[in-house]
Amino acid sequence: MKAQITSGALLESLNQRYATKQFDSTKQISEEHEHALLESLRLAPSSFGLQPWKFIVVKNPAVRKELRAAAWNQSQVEEASHFIVFSTLKQVDSDFVKKYIASTAEIRGMSTEALKGYEDMMVNFVNSGSFEHLQWTRRQSYIAMGFLGLSASLLGIDSCMIEWLDPTAFDTILGLENGPYTSVAAVALGYRSEADGTANYVKSRFTMDEVVQVI
Ligand SMILES: Cc1cc2nc3c(=O)[nH]c(=O)nc-3n(C[C@H](O)[C@H](O)[C@H](O)COP(=O)(O)O)c2cc1C
Repeated sequence: MKAQITSGALLESLNQRYATKQFDSTKQISEEHEHALLESLRLAPSSFGLQPWKFIVVKNPAVRKELRAAAWNQSQVEEASHFIVFSTLKQVDSDFVKKYIASTAEIRGMSTEALKGYEDMMVNFVNSGSFEHLQWTRRQSYIAMGFLGLSASLLGIDSCMIEWLDPTAFDTILGLENGPYTSVAAVALGYRSEADGTANYVKSRFTMDEVVQVI
């Protein structure tokens, strides 16, 4: 595949990205960028392609205020242009696998019969006694989170991944508690405030030799 971006441009975006602590609440993400960011979530890979997630874009200011209180009062929850809660399935059951198979068959113009082997393999996997549903679905959502953070940085949009939150309180506020999904984490997106001094912090990273081993 032809490269879409130079290494230099990629590295520049990676270095400019930082966990934004203070957003400029007067700056909003455009509809075009919002669409691209949501596509980065929808197109993110997941194990087996099962997509055991729902991304909740919270636009209601009153709900954002409540969520802020349930996220250790982190200002990003209210002040960022966009706030997306990552929720994942509590249980991956056979019906969900069947839904995915039916959708794949339709999209690819195949019969569900042709995908029966794939379906059985996944059903056996999720029904095996050792399968830890929530641990597995949570892992998938972090991949989507990475895709969103990188996509945002390539579009010049700032972000902050947020894991310091009370998932039980989030579930109550979002009305998830009796449904199939549960809150895992969130990402605030928008544009940094000029007052955010943390934007100037030099990245604290181990050296390449410490984190990469070539054998
Ligand atoms: C999964 C995850 C959860 C995080 N949760 C929070 C959070 O709740 N609040 C926050 O201010 N930063 C949070 N961060 C940001 C990290 O602290 C930050 O990425 C790290 O210190 C490296 O700094 P940098 O992203 O600015 O390079 C989180 C990052 C990740 C990847």
